[in-house]
Amino acid sequence: MTTATPTFPDTIFDTRESHVRSYSRAWPAVFDTAEGSWITDRDGNRYLDFFAGAGALNYGHNNPILREALVDYLTSGRITHSLDMSTVAKGELLETFQDVILRPRGFDYKVQFPGPTGTNTVEAALKLARKVTGRESIINFTNAFHGMTLGSLSVTGNSMKRAGAGIPLVHATPMPFDNYFGGVVEDFQWFERVLDDSGSGLNRPAAVIVETVQGEGGVNVARPEWLRALADLCTRREILLIVDDVQMGCGRTGPFFSFEVAGIEPDIVTLSKSIGGYGMPLALTLFKPKLDVWGAGEHNGTFRGNNPAFVTAKVALDHYWSDDALERSTLAKGERIAARFQALVAEFPTQISTRGRGLVQGLAFTEPDLAGRVCSAAYSDGLLAETSGPEDEVVKLLPPLTITEAEIDLGLDILEAATRKAVAR
Ligand SMILES: Cc1ncc(COP(=O)(O)O)c(C=O)c1O
Repeated sequence: MTTATPTFPDTIFDTRESHVRSYSRAWPAVFDTAEGSWITDRDGNRYLDFFAGAGALNYGHNNPILREALVDYLTSGRITHSLDMSTVAKGELLETFQDVILRPRGFDYKVQFPGPTGTNTVEAALKLARKVTGRESIINFTNAFHGMTLGSLSVTGNSMKRAGAGIPLVHATPMPFDNYFGGVVEDFQWFERVLDDSGSGLNRPAAVIVETVQGEGGVNVARPEWLRALADLCTRREILLIVDDVQMGCGRTGPFFSFEVAGIEPDIVTLSKSIGGYGMPLALTLFKPKLDVWGAGEHNGTFRGNNPAFVTAKVALDHYWSDDALERSTLAKGERIAARFQALVAEFPTQISTRGRGLVQGLAFTEPDLAGRVCSAAYSDGLLAETSGPEDEVVKLLPPLTITEAEIDLGLDILEAATRKAVAR
């Protein structure tokens, strides 16, 4: 790997890039090369990456299998940009998605290509639900995160992000996510009650949008039985169920779709982040065929046809999802992290708790500031991990699914040392 010689002053990011930048504040290194679970800055310092592009790099940085397919494609004069024209690369992806992902699971979803980001697929899902039902309101959950455009923000919990909208965010009603009341209150009692009560003030919703594990919200894991009860309630009341699998899909929690653990079949599913396979921008909106009521061009976007991403997406599906090896190894690696986290909790039972599923694992701190301190100490020792949760009180681990056990152990050694240092202060 070659490292480029910088031709810019060190100050360029401060002087020219907007204040809106955020990760570069926590990790001020100037990154240049990356491979697998490692990312290297321009001075040659290596960092173990337990962040993986916020879940966009499930198959690691510069995965050689995907890179080879991408380079072959790019150097053979094939089409790069195609809006929603039919192309060979798109046809091959659709066929593979059908044969490798949908059919083995018994799912029949139509596939929409919205713009290539997570928030684009969420917007498409919300619009479609409203068009199908003729209703406008959406039920979302406490601490949900669905993206930064106005529709997605309206179903997002975080008050700082919501405030950035600058206009009222309407037509969404938050309900408590699983375990919001510490398991004390029966979760759906209130939801069912207000749906039934014509005096409750709740407009009949078009859809419920839910993450099975809230990544940005603090690694809050919904129990399979809670998800099943939610799906059942939606079916009984003819409300569409949207599972936002932008962060937890593509194997993050073990199975390809994070909701497989609950045995449910949502009406609409959103995918982005790792579906492109190589950190390539791509998003899909999946829905049951009877919901495909779109008129031609009724929802569009210039970058729907990112053909290089179709190529890496197809190869990733073929290579990693033709059998259950990746799912099994993700679950085993998740247990490896969870066991080490549980030992840490035993050491500091009043300061820390842990939660997660597969390779999304969180360490939650009673004193919120500690999570940030742990992440900055870990960064100094060569590990990238970010905080999440309403008060940034959770250290969230999202390593590539392709990480080795030795790399997991090394990263956990750094994290444990950082935790002991932070808690002992
Ligand atoms: C569950 C979920 N939905 C939607 C989004 C938005 O994705 P994007 O940032 O690509 O717009 C995210 C991003 O983190 C996410 O975690």
